[in-house]
Amino acid sequence: MKIRSAEFLISNTDHRKCPEAKFPEYAFIGRSNVGKSSLINMLCERKKLAKTSTTPGKTQLINHFLINEHIYLVDLPGYGFAKVSKKEREKWEKMIHTYLNQRPNLLYTFVLLDSRLPAQKIDLEFMAKLGKKGLPFVMLFTKIDKLSSSTLNKNLADYKKTMLKEWAELPPIITTSSESKIGKEDVWNLIEQTNRDYSISLH
Ligand code: GTP
Ligand code: MG
Repeated sequence: MKIRSAEFLISNTDHRKCPEAKFPEYAFIGRSNVGKSSLINMLCERKKLAKTSTTPGKTQLINHFLINEHIYLVDLPGYGFAKVSKKEREKWEKMIHTYLNQRPNLLYTFVLLDSRLPAQKIDLEFMAKLGKKGLPFVMLFTKIDKLSSSTLNKNLADYKKTMLKEWAELPPIITTSSESKIGKEDVWNLIEQTNRDYSISLH
């Protein structure tokens, strides 16, 4: 997709203060440091649209970006950051789950998974929660520039096998590298196809 405009709109802790739900919305979630903000920058061809950091826990709020004046991308704070107190973790869970459950225009959640690792309990649990709520999600693997294709295939196979123990079918799977700009068109194609299906279902 050609990026004509990409702008930051607002940061929130409260889904009720998010921008008006008038465009299709896509959220990016996953462990702290997995590469959510970097991916949004890569998708939007901007270096500093979403703030990134080598230290986990950089993104703390629900951040809305408007792309080409008709798509919202949402950068969310990560989970699984060890240095977070129980109270903070509970606050995060409430904020994220309320947002995911209440946002009427949210069409897909991209769950970012570190491609260097085999299936991780924390990510499997998060996807299980989305599944139970009936929220559609994509398994998006990040940082594939950091490993060999044989290790990547091994980790993907482990995820698929583990997911198929619980699920009848797999969600869409996309492999990416923000560093090497891999996977951009796969993400946009899925978004554009979903937008088309959504607008057909409205008519
Ligand atoms: P939080 O906001 O803290 O939850 O993190 P995040 O998931 O938004 O991660 P962020 O995009 O800030 O990236 C974390 C670190 O991973 C940074 O040092 C990035 O440069 C690095 N990184 C992100 N994507 C890639 C990638 O595709 N390849 C490589 N090699 N590094 C990456
Ligand atoms: Mg971030």
